[in-house]
Amino acid sequence: MSMQETIQTGKHYLLDTYAQVPVVFTGGKGMNLIDEEGKHYLDFVGGIAVNALGYGDPGLSDAINKVVSEGLLHCSNLYYNKVGVEAAKELCTLAEMERVFFCNSGAEAIEASLKLARKFGHQSEAPRSEIISMMNSFHGRTYGAVTATGQKKYHKNFAPLPQGFSYAEFNNLESVKALITEKTCAIIVEPIQGEGGIVPSEPAFLRGLRSLCDEHNLLLIYDEVQCGMGRSGKPFAYQAYGVKPDVLTTAKALAGGVPCGAMLTTGKASHIFTPGDHASTFGGNPLAMAAVREMVRRLSDPAFCAHVQEMGEYLRAKLEQLVVRYPDLCIAVRGKGLINGLVLTVPPRQVVDACFAKGVLVASAGSDVLRFVPPLVVEKKDIDAVLAVVDEVLATL
Ligand SMILES: Cc1ncc(COP(=O)(O)O)c(C=O)c1O
Repeated sequence: MSMQETIQTGKHYLLDTYAQVPVVFTGGKGMNLIDEEGKHYLDFVGGIAVNALGYGDPGLSDAINKVVSEGLLHCSNLYYNKVGVEAAKELCTLAEMERVFFCNSGAEAIEASLKLARKFGHQSEAPRSEIISMMNSFHGRTYGAVTATGQKKYHKNFAPLPQGFSYAEFNNLESVKALITEKTCAIIVEPIQGEGGIVPSEPAFLRGLRSLCDEHNLLLIYDEVQCGMGRSGKPFAYQAYGVKPDVLTTAKALAGGVPCGAMLTTGKASHIFTPGDHASTFGGNPLAMAAVREMVRRLSDPAFCAHVQEMGEYLRAKLEQLVVRYPDLCIAVRGKGLINGLVLTVPPRQVVDACFAKGVLVASAGSDVLRFVPPLVVEKKDIDAVLAVVDEVLATL
């Protein structure tokens, strides 16, 4: 099949849920994706913050191949599997959390956290079930996760949504305080908002949320599905802020590209679920667990996160130069580590498409942000190459 034929066949057979770019990828190497016609694309999307080690990483490939060769592709959670237990221990150590529930995606990790919060609330003398989330947040597409998502456009057409969610203004502690009632059981927040436009929390906001949760006996849930796993320049973004949650959800880069999600807990959150409360057939699957172990091993090297910090600073400095050069088009740079956004005055899609035509992949976030979430193994030469193309594109607008 030619590339055009593959696209036409895809349009016919795949449900129409994505506005897909007309390209078919068949391979990858390092920082590059390769299409069916052999064209290379320098990738600053990284599967939307998934392919943290880039493409064809030998360590990740070996870890996965080992499981395949041993024959235990899947093992039911009716039993223990060795690689799963090792992954649990190593991930909890890296995240400085106590226990973990493994699943397959970000939304599924969020669902687990919402159920955990509700069960926690139901253990109170007067049952509590309300969950406060933030406006402009994004938590996923399943019913609980999409309801926690504080953006109306994701709710449209899907009523009735589950009850018991309210939405506070992000980075505004007074707005959160105003929503707390005797029925509240948890607060959920992304330490760095991703889909909402790459907006980092103010440190005082997270500190304030922690105090409110302690004062009112609420669970503090961090959604680190996008900003976790090294992307902030620390293994988990909360470690960059020094404000610890009770529950931490992660996914995306957790297994470097193998589908996997996790909910980690500490303290009072670690003893809420009992057998029968929650489950996932594929959760803790040996293939994904081998990949998690390799990701954790890489992130445990302080040099790995130091590299992310250094590259992030380099990238932001270059983006700031674009703000100076194109003040009518670029108005701000936001981000931390290697999750960064350039705020534009024009629709980001225009820039995304023009970069694509020049062999560079970038994505948008929210309505006005160009998002940069490259593989964490990115080098200065890649940043220079991508920013030169973005510069060329901006010059034409
Ligand atoms: C912060 C955040 N939470 C949750 C999700 C949902 O993850 P998934 O698409 O794996 O279900 C996403 C996905 O973009 C996300 O960015």
